[in-house]
Amino acid sequence: ARRALSDKPLAGRRILITAGPTREAVDPVRYVSNHSSGRMGFAIAQAALRLGAEAELVHGPVSLPPVLGAQMTAVTCAEKMQAACLALWPRCDAAVMTAAVADFRPESAPTSKIKKQPGQERMTLELTRNPDILAAVCAARRPGQVVMGFAAETDDLLANAQAKLARKGCDLLAANDVSDTRIGFGSERNRITLLAPGAEPQAWPEMDKETLAEKLLLALAQRWDAA
Ligand code: CTP
Ligand code: CA
Repeated sequence: ARRALSDKPLAGRRILITAGPTREAVDPVRYVSNHSSGRMGFAIAQAALRLGAEAELVHGPVSLPPVLGAQMTAVTCAEKMQAACLALWPRCDAAVMTAAVADFRPESAPTSKIKKQPGQERMTLELTRNPDILAAVCAARRPGQVVMGFAAETDDLLANAQAKLARKGCDLLAANDVSDTRIGFGSERNRITLLAPGAEPQAWPEMDKETLAEKLLLALAQRWDAA
C-alpha cells in the first residue's frame, strides 16, 4: 500500500550516521578495538530511509548486511572515519553519531609484525588520543544542521551524560547504560535516556532498536521544525 506523505517526515533530508567500532592498528596483524556491533547505527540508517531521508552511513568493521538504499562508506580507524564524515557533513542536514570510536590509537604502527623477544614477559603499548569526530562535526556545523550524539556509560549514567552533552556541544544525546548486559552492545533491544540542553532528561522504556531508531529520528526532526 502507498504510504501517506505524513509517513515520510524526513523527506528531502540527508542524514550522516556513524556506526560500529573503529580498529586502530598495532602492527600489520593486530589492532585495538571494542565490542560495538554497529546494530544501532545500521538501524538508524534503515529508519532514516523508511522515514523518507537519504542516509550516509560511515561505518567501521562490522558483520552486518549492508543497508540497501543507504550510501555506505566503510572505514577502519578513527582518523579515516573523521575524514569521511567531514567530507560528507556539508551536504547533510543532521548527524547521528553511534560509532564506538576508539579513544586512543597506537602512536605509530610498524610496517612489520612485532615479534616477542626470548624471555620477554611484559609488553607496553603506548597510545595517543584519537580525534573526537562528534566534536569536530559539531564545530563544523552550520545553522540548521542538527547533531545527535550517543553515550555509552557503565556508571552514573545521568551525570556523565549531562557532562558529555555540554562538553560535545551537540543538540541531542542518547545515553545508553551498557552495564546492563542484556541490552546495549550487540543486543536487539536498547534503553536510552534522551538529553537536550535545557530540557529534562527523557527516560524511554526498553524497546527494539528499530522502534528506537525511528523515535530518535523523529526527535531530531522536531529540532528542524522548531528552528
Ligand atoms: N565520539 C566520536 N569520536 C570519538 C569519541 C566519541 O565521535 N573520538 C562520539 C561517539 O560516537 C558518541 C559520543 O561521541 O556519539 C560519545 O562517545 P563516548 O565514548 O560515550 O564519549 P567520550 O567523549 O569518548 O567519553 P568517554 O571517556 O566516556 O569514552
Ligand atoms: Ca569514548
